[in-house]
Amino acid sequence: MSTIPHDLSTQVFIKTLEKNAGRMHTFSGSAEIENDVVAMIADMLHLNEPFGTTTSGGTESNILALLAARELKKNTKNPEVIVPRNAHSSIDKAAWLLGLKTVKTKVDKQFKASPKAIEKAITDDTVAIVSTAGTTYLGQIDPVEVIGEIAKDNRLPFHVDAAFGAFVIPFLAGLGYKSYSFDFEVEGVTSISADPHKMGLAPIPSGCTIFRTGKHMKSVTSKIDYLRGASATQSSILGTRPAAPILATWAIMKHLGRSGYRSIVGECMRKTMLAKDRIEDNKLLDLAIEPVMNILGIKSKELPIDSIVERMERRGWRMATSPKPHTIRLVVMPHMTDGSINAFLNDLDEISTTIDAD
Ligand SMILES: Cc1ncc(COP(=O)(O)O)c(C=O)c1O
Repeated sequence: MSTIPHDLSTQVFIKTLEKNAGRMHTFSGSAEIENDVVAMIADMLHLNEPFGTTTSGGTESNILALLAARELKKNTKNPEVIVPRNAHSSIDKAAWLLGLKTVKTKVDKQFKASPKAIEKAITDDTVAIVSTAGTTYLGQIDPVEVIGEIAKDNRLPFHVDAAFGAFVIPFLAGLGYKSYSFDFEVEGVTSISADPHKMGLAPIPSGCTIFRTGKHMKSVTSKIDYLRGASATQSSILGTRPAAPILATWAIMKHLGRSGYRSIVGECMRKTMLAKDRIEDNKLLDLAIEPVMNILGIKSKELPIDSIVERMERRGWRMATSPKPHTIRLVVMPHMTDGSINAFLNDLDEISTTIDAD
C-alpha cells in the first residue's frame, strides 16, 4: 500500500536526514512544519482547528488514538474497544499493547461494519469504537455517519482508521465516483489516522493522527523532564524520530495540492476499472465487491486461490491475499502502469485457465 515517493519528497528527505522531530526546541523549523502538515491533512478531512501529531504510519496512529480513548476513561476496570471484523490488524496490536479487550463485531455482505452490531456491543466497559474508511482487504468504507450517531449518543470516542483512504476518498466525488462522509464532517468522529506514505506519495515513514479536541491530544502528551522548551513534551510514541519524512510530506503536499492528488487518484481509479473489466471477462474469476477505491479483491468460485497464488509467485509475482473473503488483493498504486497491470492479468488468466479446479 505504499508507492515510489515523488522525486521532490525524496530530494527533501535526503537533504534533511539530521533533523530530529523529537527535539522541537532545537529543530523549531521542523516543529513548525509538522504543525503545518497536521493542519493540511486536517483541512482535507474537514477540520479547521486540529490537534495531532505526525507518526511513523498507520500502526502508530491507531495506537495513539486508542491510547487517548483509554486515558479518557481511565477508571474503566476492564476496558474494551469495539472493532468490526474488517479492521486492520494494527488495531489488534494496539489493543494488545494497551491492555484493551477487543469486542469483534460482524460485517455485512459488502464487508462493511454493521452499526447495529456495534450498538449492541456497547457496555459500561467500552472505551472506544473503531471503524475503517478504506479497508486493507477491499478498500471498503464503513457507514461512518451512522456509527458516528451511535458514538455521539453514547458519548464514546470514535476513531476512523483512514490510513489508506484519507488520501483517496476526498477526491472520489470530484472524479465522478460516489461521495462518502467519513471524516470530521461527521460530528461523532473524534480521531482519524491518515498516512501520507500510502497514497500521499511521501516517503516511509509518514503517518498522522488527528484529534478533534485538545482533550484527546493532552491525554497522549507526556513530559520529558530533561529537555527544554517545546521539546519538554511529546505527543508521539517515539522520542527521537526523523523530521525528514515530515518535511518531505510538507513539500509534496504543497507541490501537488488537491488538484495534483485528484489526478493521481483519477489515474489509479482508471487503472482499477481497467483491471475490473479484465477480471470480469475471465469467467473463472470474480470480484468480492464492486471496487470502491483503488483496491480489488479477486476471488474464484471454482479455483483454489492458494494454488493460483503459488503459481503466480513461481512466475515472479509477489502476491498478497486476504483471508475473509478469501481473495487475491490487487492494490492499484500510482507506480503501476497499464502495462504492468495487463501483464499481471495475462498471467492470472493463463494460470486460471490451466489450473485444476480442485
Ligand atoms: C487501514 C489500515 N490501517 C493501518 C495500517 C497500518 O499502516 P502501517 O503499515 O503504515 O503501520 C494499514 C496498512 O496497510 C491499513 O491498510
